[in-house]
Formats: sequence, C-alpha cells, structure tokens
Amino acid sequence: MDFTDRVVVITGAGSGMGRSYALEFARRGARLALCDIDATALEGTAALLDPQVAVLADVHDVADQGAGLAFADRVAAELGPASVVVNNAGIEGCGRPTWASEPAHHDRVMAVNYSGVVHTTRAFLPQLLAGGSGAIVNVSSVFGLIGVPNHADYCASKFAVRGFTEALAVELLHTPISVHLIHPGGVATNIARREETRAFAGKYLVSPPDEVACTVIDAIGGARTRIVVGHGSRKIWFASRLLPLPVLARVLWREMAPVLHRGSALPSGGRVSR
Ligand SMILES: NC(=O)c1ccc[n+]([C@@H]2O[C@H](COP(=O)([O-])OP(=O)(O)OC[C@H]3O[C@@H](n4cnc5c(N)ncnc54)[C@H](O)[C@@H]3O)[C@@H](O)[C@H]2O)c1
Repeated sequence: MDFTDRVVVITGAGSGMGRSYALEFARRGARLALCDIDATALEGTAALLDPQVAVLADVHDVADQGAGLAFADRVAAELGPASVVVNNAGIEGCGRPTWASEPAHHDRVMAVNYSGVVHTTRAFLPQLLAGGSGAIVNVSSVFGLIGVPNHADYCASKFAVRGFTEALAVELLHTPISVHLIHPGGVATNIARREETRAFAGKYLVSPPDEVACTVIDAIGGARTRIVVGHGSRKIWFASRLLPLPVLARVLWREMAPVLHRGSALPSGGRVSR
C-alpha cells in the first residue's frame, strides 16, 4: 500500500513496536495520529519524527470507550479521515499462575488488550468505510495461538483479539478494508515491567521491534490476514496446529518452567513437579 499522505492511527505509540510503527509509517510519507496512555513516552516518539511530518498526539487510555470516540473525532477534524488503524497498545499479564493472580489485574489486561482494540476499531471504522479504502491491523500475540503457564490473563486477552479480528475479517470481506491479525513472537520492547516476568523477557524477547514493524507494514493491504512474525513465532504457529493439547502442554511446561516465577505456591494439596 502507498501510505503517502494517508492518515495512520497507532495506539501505544510511545514505546516498543508502536514507536517503530510510527517512525516507519512516517518514513513512508504517512500523516500520524498517535495515542498512548503515557504522555512522556508519546512526546519521546514525537520528538524522534521529522518536523515536516504531520502528527497528532493524543494521550488517552484505550480502555476508555469515550476517549476513543473523542480521539476519532479529533483525528478527522485535525488530520482528515483515517485510512489505517494499528491497534497496538497492550500490557503484560501478571506473570503468576491463575490461583495467585488478582481478579482486578485480569480485568485490566482484558480492558486494555481486548476492549481497547474493540473501542478503537469501532471508533474509526466509519471513517475507513467512508474513505473507500484502508486497513485495520490488530495486534494479538503468539500467546493468541497457544496458552502458556503464568500468562493466562494475557493469553485470554490475545485469544479474544484473535476471535474479534477473525470475525471482523469475514464481516469486511466484501469491502475495500483489509484486516490483518498480527501474532508477534518475542520482541525486545519495554512490555515486561514486572519482576515476575524478568526471566521470561530475558530469554524470549529478542527480535528488534523495527524489523517486526517493517514486516507488518509491508503486508498491509495485501492478502495475508494472519501475520506470524518475530522470535519463535513460526515454531509456535506450527506447534499450535500440529500438536494435541496434552502433548503441547508438556512441551510448554518443559520449555518454560525455568523462567516461571517461583513465588506462587500451589493451592493447598497441589504439587509443583510432575
Ligand atoms: N514484546 C513482545 O514480545 C510482544 C509479543 C507479542 C505481542 N506483543 C504486543 O505488541 C503490542 C506492543 O507492545 P510492546 O511489546 O511494544 O510493549 P511496550 O510496553 O514497549 O509498548 C506498549 C505501549 O502501549 C502503551 N499503553 C499501555 N497501556 C495503554 C493504554 N491503556 N492506553 C494507551 N496506551 C497504552 C504503553 O504506554 C506503551 O507505550 C502489545 O499489544 C503487546 O501485547 C508484544
């Protein structure tokens, strides 16, 4: 797709892959509508852009539906109708097993990672349809392909993004809007902020975010709905398709046990080893 003068919306643009998307779309001539919950991070991204690039930076929480609708109105008024929406904003899970996790944290992960995608998609879809072309790019994860220990909240949110996006792709099949579902593997960003996920991040989050952003942007507008990209992603994709769940569970336990947070005892009567 030629992005020259197109309005591209990117959520979570203050860090990691969101920042990489912003820089690469700008390089390809797009006008940028960026959002993040972290004002300082968003300013940091804006400061890296060429001053010639048209940028609207909006600080809001993607889990807030009203803020998403206001953002869409602001983008249309100040930059023009959006052509591309990259639903990238996301947070990590609690890094603990389900029995040691807080319900409030689970709800927050769902609100940001899943509801945020739904709100922003719904807010901008009328602009895309009215414009007669465009793309929606929703970021799931390889943890939207498989369920892994200590990441149940995050996996649930990313499977939800997958279900929503696969359904949306069918709904929009006979429209000029292309839909893309991204399953990144381990990417070296700032997502792992918790002590519980430090060992996990050190082992797996290694792919450069710029490479992932370029691969995704190259695919926008093309026929690939599902884009599996980044460290370990293809192996996980094939494992999710080929292995029976009990086998997959054993493989995953063996692979991930060394990096799981050890501070969470099993409920009484449980045993840690198998
Ligand atoms: N890093 C990886 O290995 C990996 C793998 C698979 C999927 N992902 C997904 O990629 C996306 C980007 O993550 P990243 O790795 O670049 O992380 P990151 O933490 O570096 O960047 C995420 C950005 O989203 C912003 N954000 C968080 N909550 C928000 C909210 N409620 N509203 C608006 N902005 C918010 C953060 O402030 C941050 O700037 C996320 O959806 C993440 O789940 C990451």
